[in-house]
Amino acid sequence: MKITLSTLRKMYENREKFAVLTCYDALFAGILENCGVSVLLVGDSLGNVIQGEATTLSVTLKDMVYHTRCVARGAENAFIMADMPFGTSQRSPQHTFENARKLLAAGAQMVKIEGGHVMAETVHFLTQRGIPVCAHIGLTPQSVHQFGGYKLQGHTEASAQQLIEDALLLEESGAALLLMELIPAALAEQITDQLHIPTIGIGAGRACSAQVLVLHDMLGLYQGKKTKFTKNFMENSGSIQEAVINYVKSVKNNQFPDSEHEFQ
Ligand code: KIV
Repeated sequence: MKITLSTLRKMYENREKFAVLTCYDALFAGILENCGVSVLLVGDSLGNVIQGEATTLSVTLKDMVYHTRCVARGAENAFIMADMPFGTSQRSPQHTFENARKLLAAGAQMVKIEGGHVMAETVHFLTQRGIPVCAHIGLTPQSVHQFGGYKLQGHTEASAQQLIEDALLLEESGAALLLMELIPAALAEQITDQLHIPTIGIGAGRACSAQVLVLHDMLGLYQGKKTKFTKNFMENSGSIQEAVINYVKSVKNNQFPDSEHEFQ
């Protein structure tokens, strides 16, 4: 049966963790959903892992529409979320709506938007007009140059407080999911406890309601710099399918991430 936002909300109410993976094509969409992945994120990380770029900044809306359509063709049941690439959600709520509409027309059920309080008005505008939004805070890769690199966020008292305020405001503005990237585990737990919507973590500890990894990282394929918060599930698996099933099980049983993959 098709997974919808209501399905994810029910899982959250039942305290059932769900597994998310990035996905960029039809073949993997079918494989991942058959192995129990609930949400396929058509991430702008495709700029890194598919296009070979150093950042996600050059990914276009056309790229995202193309890959979203590919994933939607291959997925029968999984929930499909698509990233708003850099430059498509920053100008105005109206401009963002027009761009997000194209991702939904390509098969996405939700869009993901990077940014904290500055995106609250846009999140409100979209969600009031029928477009579900996942807000993405913490390390937001589209702001890599602002951050001066891919660095842990929320590690000072002031920045942690700002992230808590951002999370609460984005929920109030209508975000249905909150993704937190590269923040201390205790902070992610505090935010998860204060919200009434599911949180998805990547490098944010095990207290989140769900976990996401970049597909190529969890399959041990990505040749770039290794990061502490990822895990190569191919290491103890005989096939891609077994690796994905092990990832889903580890998320659901709260075995991944463990202390080795968390930040203090
Ligand atoms: O684009 C992406 O893959 C993402 C994940 C890192 C969460 O946003």
